[in-house]
Amino acid sequence: MYTYFFQLGTTTELSLAELACVLGDKKLDILTQQIIAVNSATKIDVQGLQNQLGGCVKILKKEALLNDTTAQTIATSIAQIIPEGKITFAFTQLDLRAGETSDEILLDAAEIKKELVQQGRSVRFVEGKKFGLSAAVLLHQKKVREFVLIITTKEIMFAQTMSIQNIDDWTVRDRSKPYADRKKGMLPPKVARILLNINRSFDQATERVVLDPFCGAGNILLENAMLKTKGIGIDIDKNAVAGTTDNLRWFSETYQQPHHQQVYPGDATHVPESIVQAVTAIVTEPFLGRPKPKAEQVPDIFRGLYKLYLGAFKNWKKILPDGAPVTIVFPSTLVAGKEYTMSALIDKLLPLGYTTVSGPLRYSRPDAIITRSIYTFVLKK
Ligand SMILES: C[S@@+](CC[C@H](N)C(=O)[O-])C[C@H]1O[C@@H](n2cnc3c(N)ncnc32)[C@H](O)[C@@H]1O
Repeated sequence: MYTYFFQLGTTTELSLAELACVLGDKKLDILTQQIIAVNSATKIDVQGLQNQLGGCVKILKKEALLNDTTAQTIATSIAQIIPEGKITFAFTQLDLRAGETSDEILLDAAEIKKELVQQGRSVRFVEGKKFGLSAAVLLHQKKVREFVLIITTKEIMFAQTMSIQNIDDWTVRDRSKPYADRKKGMLPPKVARILLNINRSFDQATERVVLDPFCGAGNILLENAMLKTKGIGIDIDKNAVAGTTDNLRWFSETYQQPHHQQVYPGDATHVPESIVQAVTAIVTEPFLGRPKPKAEQVPDIFRGLYKLYLGAFKNWKKILPDGAPVTIVFPSTLVAGKEYTMSALIDKLLPLGYTTVSGPLRYSRPDAIITRSIYTFVLKK
């Protein structure tokens, strides 16, 4: 049996849902909000999984169960894992006995280094922040091996960091693509990826084709291209269509690979059947109203959005196959103690054939007035 630990990113609720969807029937043991343990009878392709997930910062593998937390025991474990040559290591301790990571340091890493030196090893210790080396440091210092002591109420585990999120690459897609329209609101690439991964777990089709009928700057299509899945984007705004087309061209040049996405001008409530014949799923962040509405505008905005989304869902029923999953971001907000949500719409969707299979998963940017609630529905025709 292999045990892995997944350290989730800051959007913990979304990241956990993504992990559960991607790992399918594997049981997740939630040690803390950000650290999830998973047992697997077979070895997991850690790097492949890391590349696929949007919401996972690091993946660790359990190397040993320990009887104590002395420097000698830990030094022996490290020496077994690296039996020869220079040891360049970082060391972190995660004391999770209180259900969250304790601040208390149980063991000084300098003691481990001293033990290893006494065993005749050449050693360099790399100091990190309290909870381990940052992904940036690990990414750029490839020779450093990060070891982690994980203490739960049940056991003391010794683990090694096996993979880290390539934050440089995520930043490139977030910041360096040619077209962006921040006024309209754009999904961060990691969130776009999470939505795609959740949606994919409900897509039964053998040849998956994703439609984003409100594609904006194309962040969902770019992540879909990263996953090497076919996609189609539609937007009512010609600038967004041209911008997404530029972004996809940039993708192909940057990653030296075809993107397999098509983009058209069009209305999400009247998607032309001719261009979406093969679509098997929808993943979308629709128009959410203006980003910073005045309090008195909110009721009208939500009424308008309700109508827009209902029209869209009615239309999508015509173009989607039976069993197709729809992952969508809905807005919600609190004004003068009153909550505005899309719950009335969700009630309407059920008789149309859309059953909620995931959500609401909440996602909000700091200082945002509008909170995003992510739902996945499966259409039964
Ligand atoms: C919030 S943005 C989508 C942003 C996108 N997820 C991204 O990350 O770039 C919503 C988009 O919906 C488009 N839109 C608004 N009404 C539409 C409609 N009826 N049909 C298609 N697109 C529409 C807007 O032009 C805008 O680009």
